[in-house]
Amino acid sequence: MSLLNASGCLDALVAPEVAKTLDGFVTKTITPLPREGNAPPRIAETAHGMLNAIGLANPGRERFLADHLPRMRELGLPLWISVGGFCASDYAETCAALSDVQGEVEAIELNLSCPNVDEAADSAAEIVAACRTATSLPLFAKLSAAHPDVGEVARAVAHAGADGLSLVNTLRGLQLDRVTHAPMLARGSGGLSGPSLKPVALHAVHACYAATHLPIVGMGGVASAQDVIDMVACGAAHVAFGTALFADPYAVKRVREELAVVSFDDIFASAHAVTKPRVFAA
Ligand SMILES: Cc1cc2nc3c(=O)[nH]c(=O)nc-3n(C[C@H](O)[C@H](O)[C@H](O)COP(=O)(O)O)c2cc1C
Repeated sequence: MSLLNASGCLDALVAPEVAKTLDGFVTKTITPLPREGNAPPRIAETAHGMLNAIGLANPGRERFLADHLPRMRELGLPLWISVGGFCASDYAETCAALSDVQGEVEAIELNLSCPNVDEAADSAAEIVAACRTATSLPLFAKLSAAHPDVGEVARAVAHAGADGLSLVNTLRGLQLDRVTHAPMLARGSGGLSGPSLKPVALHAVHACYAATHLPIVGMGGVASAQDVIDMVACGAAHVAFGTALFADPYAVKRVREELAVVSFDDIFASAHAVTKPRVFAA
């Protein structure tokens, strides 16, 4: 079981000491062309989490490969590259470019589920199939829990060639200014993350593990040792910290120490064990 960051929630080049507390670093989603992202404000606090509408701000594929990736390699960590786009060929071209630097990349996470861009993407399975033909690197499909049957989407991307799943991305939400009643984010709605997302994420991990038995990176509201244990019990092989890192950048180091005595072999997928009916004494 390894502990990662959630994409977009840690800049390893700005905070290398924090990145070194991880078993692997997941980059911000990279798109073919550079993106400024959405207008500010693009982050707002909610009662039990946060909303963001960053809009995939990133340097674009060319600059990422020439400048960011070589500097990230100096961290000495396994690198997971988050790949985004607006059609299957966008994703596949970036996967092909990453294959040329094979040996430096641990896995590719396909961001199939960003709620903060307007462009409609091709279907998740179409994108995975296109990427499968473009690379032999491990492909993790990052899904949203917004689909009524996330297990069905997981089966489709597994069939299309995904090696693993990342679950879950944010869910679309809205936060209003208390006085003006205007949306807090310039874009209006944004992606909800943090503690309010945890039960949704646990359900998705549980359903997708049952549907596919693929390796899963579980994320959504993870901040404590208990949260990690819950994710693993539902079937996560890896667990990622996102929103928690904004308040507590060293959360992974702290939780890792707390987990030192835990046997993950005993816990893994234990939430799938058939529960026996309770027998009450008369
Ligand atoms: C500020 C912010 C930026 C994010 N950017 C990305 C991104 O670029 N790509 C992506 O796949 N997910 C992105 N996410 C979603 C996270 O990776 C994660 O799936 C989500 O926040 C749920 O985990 P959490 O509740 O632990 O934050 C972002 C989340 C936040 C809060």
